[in-house]
Amino acid sequence: MAKLWGGRFTKETNKLVEELTASISFDQKLAAEDIAGSLAHVQMLGECGVISSADAETIKAGLLAVKAKLENSELQYSVANEDIHMNIEKFLIDEIGSVGGKLHTGRSRNDQVATDMHLYLKNHTIAIIELIEATQAAILKQAEENIDTILPGYTHLQRAQPVSFAHHLMAYFWMLERDKARLGDSLDRIDWLPLGAGALAGTTFPINRERTAELLGVKHVYPNSMDAVSDRDFILEFLSAGAILMMHISRLAEELVIWSSQEFQFVELDDSFCTGSSIMPQKKNPDVPELLRAKTGRVYGNLMGLLTVLKGLPLAYNKDMQEDKEGMFDTVETLEGSLQLLAPMIETMTVNKRRMKQAVKQDYSNATDIADYLVTKGLPFREAHEIIGKIVLFAIQQNKFLLDLRLEEYQEFSPLFAEDIYDVLAPENVVAARDSYGGTAPNQVEEQINLAKQALAL
Ligand code: ARG
Repeated sequence: MAKLWGGRFTKETNKLVEELTASISFDQKLAAEDIAGSLAHVQMLGECGVISSADAETIKAGLLAVKAKLENSELQYSVANEDIHMNIEKFLIDEIGSVGGKLHTGRSRNDQVATDMHLYLKNHTIAIIELIEATQAAILKQAEENIDTILPGYTHLQRAQPVSFAHHLMAYFWMLERDKARLGDSLDRIDWLPLGAGALAGTTFPINRERTAELLGVKHVYPNSMDAVSDRDFILEFLSAGAILMMHISRLAEELVIWSSQEFQFVELDDSFCTGSSIMPQKKNPDVPELLRAKTGRVYGNLMGLLTVLKGLPLAYNKDMQEDKEGMFDTVETLEGSLQLLAPMIETMTVNKRRMKQAVKQDYSNATDIADYLVTKGLPFREAHEIIGKIVLFAIQQNKFLLDLRLEEYQEFSPLFAEDIYDVLAPENVVAARDSYGGTAPNQVEEQINLAKQALAL
């Protein structure tokens, strides 16, 4: 097939070369953005008198016809036409004849592809921010129902101090809030227009790049044409923020896997979010959180991949840059897919409040509170810590928990102990006592939930 750039060639392209260089199998995802960019470009060309307004109108109508045909799957992409840009240009020329060849005046595929990527990433960054908010809303809903639900809090995955389940869940709300802020911030770098930069040096035609930007609803125009066609750091920024977001999703997914295990039984995931085993009839497997955890690998990989592709590239465009796409699409699709599952999975999970409470009663996670108790009676914290350590050891040897020890037993370790120690040790009181700002006491958690609602503008 004749190439759009075939003029200076005397031989057919080698088939394998054609396959290696073609990007149409994946960059067809940019069709809508490519057509939007072309519509704005050709409108601007007409307004600036670079082409006649009659030609501009014909080309616009042609582009819209191509768009409709693509949406109805009436057109077939071809590898011979290499990428989305040349495939669409070819469809246009087939549609309206040689006047379609005027579309590419004053631009190059280099500024065109960069523009498509900016437009694509802007739309999807906004979509991902919305999906994060839906996940935050699901977390918030579960938190509101579990302010008084107490479970062991862990450090080193060892029981540490009891906490409110709402408090534990809300930690993820705030991580996601920062993820949202990072992505929202990156929009400042995404919302720039490369179009009109030409291949690298600008164009000889009297174009108006500000007008193209206005037509596309893009805020800024790249002031340096070489930077405009070579910049991919707006994608790296997205991949970085995406990697951090996915890491947060993965940590929450890991907790869901642990919490739904037989050993913990803190939550039960809804049947519709689990799968069974082909051999063991009793199994209900948490495949969804496991896969969310696992997909973090490819999201990290996409970031490392593009960083590596770009690190040694001289200015300006290099074909290497075509490798920016699959990783970006994959991260976008992985994040969108993961968040779409995470929100309803959290919303529909059953919280086993009884089981959590039982767990708290069978540990030594109230030990810090006896130390604090002795401190309020005047003992330096370090001395109190030592005494309580001995009490815990004694209790373990007796096969008892701290609430099971008799007052006389306590008093053998320190005369400062009195009957009120049992109130201090009750799990609800242990939680309620952590009333410092940002602590796990119910009123602090309520305040936090109020702040969260403000953040979501609920
Ligand atoms: N398919 C190419 C890419 O994605 C478009 C730009 C091609 N430019 C060029 N000079 N070959 O990077």
